[in-house]
Amino acid sequence: MSETTTPETPASDAAVPQRRVSGVAIRLDGVTKHYPGQDRPAVDDVDLEIPAGETVMFVGPSGCGKTTLLKMLNRLIEPSGGRIHLDGEDVTDQDPDKLRRRIGYVIQAGGLFPHMTVATNIGLVPRMLGWDKPRTATRVDELLDLVGLDPAVYRDRYPRELSGGQQQRVGVARALAADPPVLLMDEPFGAVDPVTRLRLQDELLRIQEELGKTIVFVTHDFDEAVKLGDRIVVFDIGARVVQYDTPDAILASPAEEYVADFVGAGATLKQLTLTRVGDVELEQVTTAAVGTDAAAAVAAARAAGQDFVVVLDERGRPISWPTLAELGRATTVPATVDPRLPVVGVRSTLNDALDTMLAASQGGVVVTGRREALAGVLKVEAVMAAIRRSRAEVAG
Ligand SMILES: Nc1ncnc2c1ncn2[C@@H]1O[C@H](COP(=O)(O)OP(=O)(O)OP(=O)(O)O)[C@@H](O)[C@H]1O
Ligand SMILES: [Mg+2]
Repeated sequence: MSETTTPETPASDAAVPQRRVSGVAIRLDGVTKHYPGQDRPAVDDVDLEIPAGETVMFVGPSGCGKTTLLKMLNRLIEPSGGRIHLDGEDVTDQDPDKLRRRIGYVIQAGGLFPHMTVATNIGLVPRMLGWDKPRTATRVDELLDLVGLDPAVYRDRYPRELSGGQQQRVGVARALAADPPVLLMDEPFGAVDPVTRLRLQDELLRIQEELGKTIVFVTHDFDEAVKLGDRIVVFDIGARVVQYDTPDAILASPAEEYVADFVGAGATLKQLTLTRVGDVELEQVTTAAVGTDAAAAVAAARAAGQDFVVVLDERGRPISWPTLAELGRATTVPATVDPRLPVVGVRSTLNDALDTMLAASQGGVVVTGRREALAGVLKVEAVMAAIRRSRAEVAG
């Protein structure tokens, strides 16, 4: 089945190569779940098409059947009726174990086994598939790298020795271990603090850009849905599909009053969530590599009329942004990593950028692109200008 509606490339992606698709389409026909002893079905006759390689977000009130629907996709819950197709193939009666190799599953707090190391947790499915130790070990390191954790540091740790955000990353790595075409995520970032949450979202966007899986993602947070989703499904009780469209379309014309309430009154401000950092013109700044001559960097920044320098490590990733006065005190550019350096990815939203600035009490953020390389700097003034422009457009 290849009515692959590749998402229209948003302007922010103009510089990014077209996303590759490794995911497959999912189709639900009249899927129903009637729990024993309940008078109404939790999921009532749902038809839904999820295109290959897209991220589709499930939102809706508590108890409306999102988790039940998600778990029927990998048959953690058996449907009472209807058919489920994966890549055009009817998998409703397929052996659930076999099915789950094609479908990764991520839940809140990672769902890691506490008595197993990170490497054992991630290697679980590959070992089950009969991979030998060296191949599994290579895959584990590759996945840790993909989710932004240094394999040498983290592979032998136990889940309790990780922060919530790190556990969540390992959970994502584990779900991706056997390279399944489909990833199901049930409020995966619900339990972490807001700053970590933004980072995890950015990371998922980056990973998805690389992998092009089909992702079905449940969230309570409409901003998260707008940020991560190619499409959003808004459900009501019984998993009734109220609206299924792109974030832009839902924001522009919510199908029912109920969706409008859900979207929230501040639809203009929501534009902040629709606009990516990469859509705004970034400031190009003076950079200096660790270990090079500090005075030369200071001179270059001064000549460009800038009062700070972004220091890059050997892989071109920003690690600090000292003022010229600070840098002037050193002879060579220091390798010190500033733990408070505010950083967002080009796929972050302007909303995230503002949050990150506020959290760091800074008037700007450093922006990174592929492989965390520097893309530029975004100042609060530029964000404000973008808001004014979008307000004028909406009014206008
Ligand atoms: N094992 C079960 N037995 C009976 N009823 C259940 C069972 N699991 C869920 N339900 C009911 O089915 C409905 C849908 O539950 P579900 O967990 O799918 O909702 P949800 O949309 O994921 O909610 P939330 O946003 O709170 O996670 C609810 O009314 C719930 O009480
Ligand atoms: Mg749920």
